[in-house]
Amino acid sequence: MPEPRITVPLDDIDLSLPEFWLAGREWRDAAFRTLREQAPVRFTEERVLEDSRIQPGPGYWSLTRYEDIWHVSRNPQLFCSGKGSNIGDMPVEINEFFGSMINMDDPKHFRLRSIVSKGFTPKEVAKVEEYVKTKATSIVDDLLERFPDGSCDFVTEVAAPLPLKIICEMMGIPEADEPQIFAWTNTILGIGDPEYGTTLDELMMAALQMFQYAQQLGEDRLANPKDDITSVMMHAVVDGERLTTQEFGSFFILLVVAGNETTRNAISHGLKALTDDPDQRAIWWDEFDGHTRTAVDEIVRWATPVIHFRRTATEDTSLSGQPIAAGEKVVMWYPSANRDPAKFDHPYDFDVRRDPGAQVGFGAGGPHFCLGANLARREIAVMFRELRTRLPGIRATGEPDYLQSAFINGIKRMPCAWKGV
Ligand code: HEM
Repeated sequence: MPEPRITVPLDDIDLSLPEFWLAGREWRDAAFRTLREQAPVRFTEERVLEDSRIQPGPGYWSLTRYEDIWHVSRNPQLFCSGKGSNIGDMPVEINEFFGSMINMDDPKHFRLRSIVSKGFTPKEVAKVEEYVKTKATSIVDDLLERFPDGSCDFVTEVAAPLPLKIICEMMGIPEADEPQIFAWTNTILGIGDPEYGTTLDELMMAALQMFQYAQQLGEDRLANPKDDITSVMMHAVVDGERLTTQEFGSFFILLVVAGNETTRNAISHGLKALTDDPDQRAIWWDEFDGHTRTAVDEIVRWATPVIHFRRTATEDTSLSGQPIAAGEKVVMWYPSANRDPAKFDHPYDFDVRRDPGAQVGFGAGGPHFCLGANLARREIAVMFRELRTRLPGIRATGEPDYLQSAFINGIKRMPCAWKGV
């Protein structure tokens, strides 16, 4: 997407309106540009949600500049996560039940992260490398067999199955249960989108069922350890403490949701970007290994699959000169930070050789930085290697059907073809 050609006046921008997240990508980019330039720390009211059990909160400060988001993310004593990491307020117990450590502060967060990190050491992630390759190969084998005309839906057939299968394999979930896990994650993350029409009750039900499933899995691996990260986590001892099965249940919800929906969207946006910019595709395809490290992070910057996380000020402070009172919410809009010209040269160019250090798609640093970043990078790299090697002509052949959500920059469907394009 080039620099937006339209201008969106400040008064037309309301990030709390569901319609904002329906307007096209160019409109959204233009709106974030207006905010960065004219109101980088802007108070945004919360709206009454359809489900009246969630009362709108007092509003939040929308942060759109890279620098402010970086500052908030790296100062957890000043901007905490324990009061929630999404915009709406929920009781602490619900936050922890759903969000596990993403909704916690130290020392609780540190303890939990230290335990579960044992499942994400380079050694554990390297163990799945082979499996990621095998899975990517079998996805392409399947495409060739099932779609002899050389076209299919990219999301359903390519982008979605890979991360799902990897996370299930890592956790030790039997293949027969994968469709159920997939359906639960769709329900949980589809809450804003009318197509999925998830109600709050359905969301709670899906989370509860997933929680119970995980508890059983955790109990089983406690008794019968296997070669999976569920066993590693259930048996890890940090400072004499272990994970309880309840903690594991909540962490499982976070992990399965975080691991699936993000990576699949990065892969889908990646194909779209490579389709729209054949020069960049040629650069990467011609020297695949040399550019993979930067190309993968550029895909994550470009896609910014996670749209926001929230923090809450713990004391009176200020951001870009705007006073923020203790207890007020601040929302970090990552897509805006990832297009901030103060940080990125030509931010609207997709550039597979861009220095990857700065992008905030995995978070802007600090204690909650994405635990699965290296796993996600490997999955994206391996999938594109397989596509480039076996279906080098693959392209998106139509516009993506986007998810309507203020949280996940999702693509629900996108036609693709590798023959006759
Ligand atoms: C392209 C793919 C992915 C993106 C864009 C992404 C993005 C993010 C973001 C923005 C955060 C919050 C960072 C913060 O608040 O500072 C996060 C946290 C997290 N991510 Fe990811 N993620 C991806 C893949 C994964 C995968 C594959 C897994 C695991 C299998 C994973 C597990 C987690 C966990 C557990 C956290 C919470 C960490 C904490 O609170 O300490 N993510 N991710």
